[in-house]
Amino acid sequence: MTDAQTPADRRLAAESLAANDPTGWFEPLYAEAAAGTSVVPWDRAEPNPLLADWLRDRALGSGVRGLVIGCGYGTDAEFVAAQGIRTTAFDISPTAIRGARARFPHSPVTYKVADLLRPPATWLGAFDLVVESITVQSLPPEVRATAIANIREFLAPGATLLVIADISTVPAPGPPWPLTAADIDSFADADVTPVRVERLPRADVPGLHRWRAEFHRAADNAPI
Ligand SMILES: C[S@@+](CC[C@H](N)C(=O)[O-])C[C@H]1O[C@@H](n2cnc3c(N)ncnc32)[C@H](O)[C@@H]1O
Repeated sequence: MTDAQTPADRRLAAESLAANDPTGWFEPLYAEAAAGTSVVPWDRAEPNPLLADWLRDRALGSGVRGLVIGCGYGTDAEFVAAQGIRTTAFDISPTAIRGARARFPHSPVTYKVADLLRPPATWLGAFDLVVESITVQSLPPEVRATAIANIREFLAPGATLLVIADISTVPAPGPPWPLTAADIDSFADADVTPVRVERLPRADVPGLHRWRAEFHRAADNAPI
């Protein structure tokens, strides 16, 4: 494959990673897409079915505070909000967030530019439902533990975390860097425990599977 044929995400990621900047390629990719010279490969018009099927079965609703990580143009965040969940969604790319606001001008979602690796302190322990879909795997392994620890910290007492990720099979140069069973286990700690971990087929890519893992943070039952 020549440079001219290299997909934009691979080209920009290679430059960014060579400069030791694990997240530096997302904004240029969205900026190229906004200029019409590239496409964002993960953009979808419909919510991720692994999220939609899971969430439809839940009796969550108004009063629940939701956080969607690495929301891109907002398709999944809009679906979460449509279930009556008070939804905040964030992305590191200002152009992505502008795109989400433009795509959904009457949205109830609060869209923010923020970095999962340095999240706002006010978000810690502030959400009842946290949705992480294929953002951790878009970051190189060196920052994975930080990303996962920060995701866990968003969970309020009694909160639920949903993680969707590609399943690691053979080691391959990323991005993406799919997650192993040990990576999925590492979302848990003494207070955050797995509820259900599934390996499910991808509807969009026959033969490939994804993790869908649900975790729960213990309710704060400390006596007053
Ligand atoms: C592979 S895409 C996944 C998008 C969406 N979550 C989905 O499931 O299709 C990763 C997204 O996370 C964003 N992102 C990457 N690193 C981030 C970080 N450190 N903080 C916030 N967003 C980040 C990227 O800009 C991109 O929109």
